[in-house]
Amino acid sequence: MRSRMNWKVLVVGCLVTLTLVDVCAANNVTWDKIREKKARIVKKLKKDFRKLKKQEGAIKLVGGENGGHEGRYWMDNVYCDGSEDELSKCRFDGWATSDCEGSEAAGVICAREQQGQQEDRETIGRTKLKRKPEKRRIKDVHQQGVAIRLAGGRVHGEGRLEVKLGNSDWGVVCGDGWSLFEAAVVCRQLGLGYASDAVQTNFFGGEKIPMAISGVQCHGDENSLIDCLHDKLLDCPGPLENVAGLVCLRDMPDLVFDHIELMRTAHLEDRQLYWLQCAMEENCVASQAYKIQTESDNWHLETRRLLRFTARILNAGTADFRPSVPKHLWEWHMCHMHYHSMEVFATFDVLDLNGTRLAEGHKASFCLEDNQCLPGVEARYKCANYGDQGISVNCSDIYKHNIDCQWVDISELRPGEYIFKVAVNPEFKVGEMSFDNNAAICRLLYTESFATVHSCVMGRP
Ligand SMILES: *[C@@H]1O[C@H](CO)[C@@H](O)[C@H](O)[C@H]1NC(C)=O
Ligand SMILES: *[C@@H]1O[C@H](CO)[C@@H](O)[C@H](O)[C@H]1NC(C)=O
Ligand SMILES: *[C@@H]1O[C@H](CO)[C@@H](O)[C@H](O)[C@H]1NC(C)=O
Repeated sequence: MRSRMNWKVLVVGCLVTLTLVDVCAANNVTWDKIREKKARIVKKLKKDFRKLKKQEGAIKLVGGENGGHEGRYWMDNVYCDGSEDELSKCRFDGWATSDCEGSEAAGVICAREQQGQQEDRETIGRTKLKRKPEKRRIKDVHQQGVAIRLAGGRVHGEGRLEVKLGNSDWGVVCGDGWSLFEAAVVCRQLGLGYASDAVQTNFFGGEKIPMAISGVQCHGDENSLIDCLHDKLLDCPGPLENVAGLVCLRDMPDLVFDHIELMRTAHLEDRQLYWLQCAMEENCVASQAYKIQTESDNWHLETRRLLRFTARILNAGTADFRPSVPKHLWEWHMCHMHYHSMEVFATFDVLDLNGTRLAEGHKASFCLEDNQCLPGVEARYKCANYGDQGISVNCSDIYKHNIDCQWVDISELRPGEYIFKVAVNPEFKVGEMSFDNNAAICRLLYTESFATVHSCVMGRP
């Protein structure tokens, strides 16, 4: 039996943000409220996925020729290693961040276990028709001058981006692919500080204004938008409301991952599964461990090899780092008895020297708090008692190597030389002054008996 419900879940997911933004624009609500609403919908969606999983057994993602979809896409470039218990735990570009076209909707076929390998193929979806338009540097194409401004904001420092090419009228920018990196350049160029939000919506109006450019793509450190790339030929997929907008702020957090502490503390530990049951509930071990658990009667005596290390994250910015999700939507983690305020706060990955991801690192959802502050700074965020979560300016949040889940399960890794990468705020959910200090990219030397992490450099997640 095939289920159409899966398809529906995805499509409902796809449609939701558009209406959401309309409602919000009409009622003059704040960005916090929009984020909150979005988080609530995402939570509901995830519940749907979980339910779906229970009903149907395996979920298979398929490609195909049929079926179109009009409206917002929720997920793009989804990458799962197969062990995730929800689709939302896979890597993807971020909720509603997508450059998909109508013909690219993903479909799923769910097979009931007992169906075995019966060829029950109904394809619902993703054709890779993508013809990526050619990209060129803006200043190379528009040599007659490019001016930019913000318009339609309610306060100074926010609005839709408008661009004036030479003598033509002001036009808007296509929201497709628009992210914090492009917004950062605009905020810098206009002297408005740092990008706090990058949005793809007509919240700030602009749907009736002709579009000037599309496919803008910056590295994030450019001083002017003309140093970024754009589509040589205007091409803006998606609805008319797909307008690039942004919010700039002068004060922003800036997380810095302490790679020295990582190198100093990294070490191996072998631990029996018996002691890792809580960690298993939170997905902190490799999928092989779950297999052992189901296949072996004495599974709890089996050992896993863990690469443990301390993660110490300083907020060196000028504003507190606050979770992207409001308090009442935090997830309670029974096993560790605290709330997680950010679903993916950090990622731990082992890659081969070619950059291919190997050991299933994991995505860690921490409880954010001030553990250690510079002299004269008072710690204010505490996880205990449903306290406010965050990291104050000049305070560090420290996850010591001896706490649960503060490791990568490398039991299936062969001895050798690898790249070890730890990143915080890896999905760029919360704006920062810079993302170039959010990751430590290191060498990992692993022999049968010991492991060292060395030669770390700071980089982008
Ligand atoms: C919208 O909200 C802003 C800020 O709260 C307020 O200054 C403004 O008057 C509001 N506009 C309308 C139309 O309610
Ligand atoms: C990296 O890629 C090269 C060429 O594709 C291959 O020969 C080599 O084995 C790879 N190395 C690793 C560690 O996977
Ligand atoms: C944080 O530390 C920096 C450098 O020590 C200092 O310049 C800044 O004033 C401090 N900020 C706060 C809010 O304490």
